[in-house]
Amino acid sequence: MTDTSRSRLAILISGRGSNMQAFIEACARHELNAEVCLVISNNPDAPGLERAREAGIDTCCINHRDFSSRGAFDQAMVARLDDCRVDLVILAGFMRILTPVFIKPFAGRLLNIHPSLLPLYRGLNTHQRALDAGDSEAGVTVHFVTPELDGGPPVLQARVPIMPGDTSDSLAARVIVKEHLIYPIAARWHIDGRLRLTPQGALLDGEPLPPNGVQYVPDLARECP
Ligand code: GRF
Repeated sequence: MTDTSRSRLAILISGRGSNMQAFIEACARHELNAEVCLVISNNPDAPGLERAREAGIDTCCINHRDFSSRGAFDQAMVARLDDCRVDLVILAGFMRILTPVFIKPFAGRLLNIHPSLLPLYRGLNTHQRALDAGDSEAGVTVHFVTPELDGGPPVLQARVPIMPGDTSDSLAARVIVKEHLIYPIAARWHIDGRLRLTPQGALLDGEPLPPNGVQYVPDLARECP
């Protein structure tokens, strides 16, 4: 039987789906008052699709190569998500740039995770760029999605130190641990009705968020026990 009080999540992936897995596990542990009702991948070979199927979740591949334009691809995804009556869309390593065709219908209900301390390093190769710049720390940001690529209001951010001898891979391995911690927390704020996107920016409990989002500290983990 479906529990109608639970938020309906859809997760969009393109690859391995470790953040998706974090959501599946957080829902299974009832840390989120939500269920993952659909996982969509644009990539038919995404390993995350198999992980989702193993968890008994509906999956669907909408291959961007089957569409003549970004808008047509986005429209097909909107139709599939509408069929599923989705409350919140989680982008988790979804490697396609979305157009307003997708972003508008889900405005305020669309979150992304980006592996940098936004506003630093929008786009790709974030860890290498942090290393090349000689930064002493790196991190990850959950943010609302707006038409500006990686430019929507930050919600929650976690930092890690950059160690001597770090490579892009070693840094990514340190950051991904934080990704799995903070993404469900930010989603939980939304699911619980505490987090909203307004024309003035993101609000948490009615208060404007700091420009870089809330800074994660271990105590915040209790938000998502
Ligand atoms: C993560 O590093 C995320 O921040 C970025 O893409 C990667 C996806 O990893 N947007 P996974 O597929 O969730 O394991």
